[in-house]
Amino acid sequence: MTDPRLEIRNIRRRFQGREVVSDVSLKVMPGQVTCLLGPSGCGKSTTLRIIAGVDMQDEGEIYVDGELVCDTVFRVPPEQRSIGMMFQDFALFPHLSVAENVAFGLNGHKSDKRARVEELLDKVGLLSAVDKYPHELSGGEQQRIALARALAPRPSIMLMDEPFSGLDERLKDDIRDSTLDVLKSENTAVLLVTHEPHEAMRMADEIALMRDGRIVQQGAPYNIYNAPVDRKAAAFFSDINVIRGKVQDLSVTTPFGKFLCPGQPDGAEVDIVIRPQHLRIDFDRHGRGPNPTPQDGTPARAVVQRARFMGRESLVEFKMEFDGSVLKATVPSVFLPKPGTPMWLMLRRDRCFVFPVKDGSASSDRV
Ligand SMILES: Nc1ncnc2c1ncn2[C@@H]1O[C@H](COP(=O)(O)OP(=O)(O)OP(=O)(O)O)[C@@H](O)[C@H]1O
Ligand SMILES: [Mg+2]
Repeated sequence: MTDPRLEIRNIRRRFQGREVVSDVSLKVMPGQVTCLLGPSGCGKSTTLRIIAGVDMQDEGEIYVDGELVCDTVFRVPPEQRSIGMMFQDFALFPHLSVAENVAFGLNGHKSDKRARVEELLDKVGLLSAVDKYPHELSGGEQQRIALARALAPRPSIMLMDEPFSGLDERLKDDIRDSTLDVLKSENTAVLLVTHEPHEAMRMADEIALMRDGRIVQQGAPYNIYNAPVDRKAAAFFSDINVIRGKVQDLSVTTPFGKFLCPGQPDGAEVDIVIRPQHLRIDFDRHGRGPNPTPQDGTPARAVVQRARFMGRESLVEFKMEFDGSVLKATVPSVFLPKPGTPMWLMLRRDRCFVFPVKDGSASSDRV
């Protein structure tokens, strides 16, 4: 097993007595992209600034390649940490050419510098812009130059704070993909901060989900999406449906029949959570409904309340006959049922998450 390129242990940071980073530990492996993902204000940038060395933690240690670079007493200065940085406003120097911008952090022989500049400009697909100035480039092109500039001194670690947020929405995915290719080709360990789940899923080998200054879950995107640690973690990645119930004899009664909740004591409240794409819908057939299959369990009758066309899919809200609750399902957009249409819903039980209800988690899914 390889050692982490970057490791932070038990980092804490307080501002005016308020703790905004609480006991954060994290590892970033060489050649891997780890995304620090979380809502605005949860402490992502503060964590990144501490790693970069432009802010100082109150507690905790930072290691690069197993060597201590910073604790609360000892501190390697930022410029000696072999850490590259790219921030949201990737400001290029306006009075320097593209080549000069990329060469900015490079030392050594002129011909070596030129070779490295050209290598990187080639990687980001902008070799032809070598003699241009930043104002002659589009936002996306400037972003690629900023990436080349940050990578030029071969940092072993790259810290990126919302590096795509200033870009045109339609450009973003292409730029994310090409950025990823360049980062992988340089074998850099990347810690990328974002508040967009889509971006994290697209870029990350590993996601660290942060909330209120803490990392609440860490793992591969697939695992975080398919095995969220709690209801808020599930809700951060997509709309969710929540069916709340009280456990009796190891199960909860739902519109879809009894739902087994092993391990929960009688009287406990639980939330059964399912994403809209994991509800199946079927036609009413004059009240006869679908032919149930063992996997889909008991179907439940519902009436379409609202249907919205979303492009690739439609989002349909149903009012459940069983208890008047509302559940959302996504269906292919060729299908846009009219309000008032009776239909049947089926629940993919293997796609449900069951979470015990914690005090105070009544209504909000805000992460
Ligand atoms: N220098 C500072 N002094 C006081 N409070 C600060 C300071 N820097 C950050 N904070 C506070 O710490 C909290 C976390 O801020 P941080 O910038 O780390 O959030 P973030 O997760 O990066 O959010 P965003 O997604 O909006 O960038 C915020 O409430 C912020 O107001
Ligand atoms: Mg931030």
